[in-house]
Amino acid sequence: MNRYFCQTVAHTRVFIKTLHENGAMAQNKKSDLLMDVAIRRCILIPSSEIYGSPAGFYDYGPVGCQIKKKLENLWRAEFLQKEGFHEIETCLVLPEAVLKASGHAANFADPLVTCTQCKNKFRADHLILANKAAMADGIKPEGMQPQALSEIIKKYKVECPDCAKPTLTDVNWFNMMFRTNIGPIDGNTAYFRPETAQGIFLDFSRIIRNYGSKLPIGIGQVGRSARNEISPRQGLIRMREFTQMELEYFFNPKDQTHPKFGKIKDEKLRFLLEDGTPAEMTLEKSIEAGVVPNQIMAYFLYKQKLLYTAIGVPENKFHFKKIPKNDTPHYSKGNIDLEVETSHGLVETIGTAYRTDYDLASHSKCSKNDLSVFVEEDKQRVMPHVVEPSMGTDRMFWCVLEYCFREKSPEKDWEWFAFPPAIAPYHAWVFPLFKKEGMDDKARSVEEMLRESGISASYQESGSIGKRYARADEIGVPYCITIDHDTLKDETVTLRFRNDGKQIRLKVGELAEKIATFVKEGKVSA
Ligand code: GAP
Repeated sequence: MNRYFCQTVAHTRVFIKTLHENGAMAQNKKSDLLMDVAIRRCILIPSSEIYGSPAGFYDYGPVGCQIKKKLENLWRAEFLQKEGFHEIETCLVLPEAVLKASGHAANFADPLVTCTQCKNKFRADHLILANKAAMADGIKPEGMQPQALSEIIKKYKVECPDCAKPTLTDVNWFNMMFRTNIGPIDGNTAYFRPETAQGIFLDFSRIIRNYGSKLPIGIGQVGRSARNEISPRQGLIRMREFTQMELEYFFNPKDQTHPKFGKIKDEKLRFLLEDGTPAEMTLEKSIEAGVVPNQIMAYFLYKQKLLYTAIGVPENKFHFKKIPKNDTPHYSKGNIDLEVETSHGLVETIGTAYRTDYDLASHSKCSKNDLSVFVEEDKQRVMPHVVEPSMGTDRMFWCVLEYCFREKSPEKDWEWFAFPPAIAPYHAWVFPLFKKEGMDDKARSVEEMLRESGISASYQESGSIGKRYARADEIGVPYCITIDHDTLKDETVTLRFRNDGKQIRLKVGELAEKIATFVKEGKVSA
C-alpha cells in the first residue's frame, strides 16, 4: 500500500482535504456544479465514500456506467470494428521486468516536494503554476528537471499551500507506479500497469503469428490503468485509477502510408503548432508542413475528430496540439494531443504518439525473444513501428457531461443533459399514465418488447407524469413513452422528445423501429 494511504484515517482525511483544496484552486463554479449534479444523480460516486473518499478515485453509478460503456463501444466501433482490428484484454499487474524494459521504472515520475513543517507532499510544477509571480515572469515548469524546479521554488518563495509559508524541500522525482508483490515472496516486485499499451506489446508476437504474420495490424484494448498521482485533482481529469482505450497500429517503417488516406486527405483539422499559433489545415498539408509525421497518424487524428463530434463536443472547442520535442514521452518520435476546452481549462483527452519500434525493440532485447516480423516483400525481418492513439475514457466522459449539460431555463425548470441518443444512459423510459386499468401491465409489456428489440428501456411509475419527464431529462433520456387510455383501445402511445418536450403518437408495433431510427439520426426534437 502506498505510504500516502497507510496513515491513520484521521490523517488520511486531512490529507484528502488538502488535495481537494489544492484542486479547488483551479476549479470554478461550473465544474463544481456539474460534479455535484453528477454525484446527486448517481452518475459518479466518490470511491470508498463511507471511508472518506481518497482523492483521485471515482466509481461510475448506474447512469454513468451506461454512458461510459456506450462511449467505449463507440470507440470500439470507430477504431476497431470499422478498421477490422483486433481487441484483446491483458492483465493489470505486470512483473517489474516489463516496466524496466518499457522505461517506466526509470522514467515514469513526477516532481515532488515535501513541506518541512506539515510533511504534506505536493507536485512541484503545480505549486509553481499557482504562483502568480512565477507566472508573471513566464516560467513554464513542465518538463523541467528537479534542480531547476528547486531553484524556482526558492527564487519565488513558493509556499506550502497548507502552511502558507515557504517551507518546501528540494524537488525529487516520485515514480508514479503503484508497486506490489506477486505472491508471498518478498522481492517478486510487480506494478499495476500505468498504461494498457504494454500488454499489447507483450502479446503482439503471438497475435501476429496467428493472423498470418502480415503488417500492418491494429490491436487495441479498453482497460484500467493506475498512476499514483501526487496531486489528483479536477475530478475525472487527474485520477489515480482510470480507463484507457488504446490502439497500437503496427506497420512496416518502410511504408508510412495509410490505405484510406486518399479518401480523407482534404479534410481539415484545427492545430495548435509548436510555437503556440493556431492553424487550420488539410491532412495532406499537415504532413507536407511537418506537423504530422505520416499518413497513418493523420488518419487516426481524423478518426478522433469524428469520435469527438459524435459525442457532442463542438468542432471549434477542440484542437490538435503538436507537442514540442522536449515535452514528448521517453518513447516518442512525435506526439499530437487532442485538447478540449473545458471548465478546467484546456485538457488533453487523447495523446497520439509515434512510438517507433521503441517498445518492441526494447522487449526483444530484455526478454531475449525476437519480436520482429518476417516481411515477405522485403525478404527480411523487420521490427514494426507503432502509431498509438491513446484515449482516456474518463476525460472523454467529463467532456460529454460538460458539453451536454443544460442549466435551468424558462422552458425547463430543472438542470438536464442533452446527450446524443447513442450515448444516453437509456434510449427510452416507459410510463403508464396511471398505475391502474391495466396501463401498468401494458407499459411493462412495451418496455419488455423494446428491450428485446435492442432498445435500452426502463419502466418508471412513481410521481406525476411531469415529474417523470423531468427525471428522465435530468439523466438525458431522449424519449419517453406514455401508455394512456387510448393505448388500451387502439394500441397507440405518445412519444415525447427530450429537447423540445413535444409529443407524437405512434403505434406500439412501430415503436422499436422508430426509436432505433431516431437514435441513429440523433433526433431529439419533434
Ligand atoms: N500509452 C500512452 C499514454 O498512456 P498518456 O498521455 O499518459 O499516454 C493517455 O495517457 C490518455 O490517458 C490521456 O490523454 C488521458 O485521457 C488519459 N489519462 C492519463 N492520465 C490520466 C489520469 N491521471 N486521470 C485520467 N485520465 C488520464
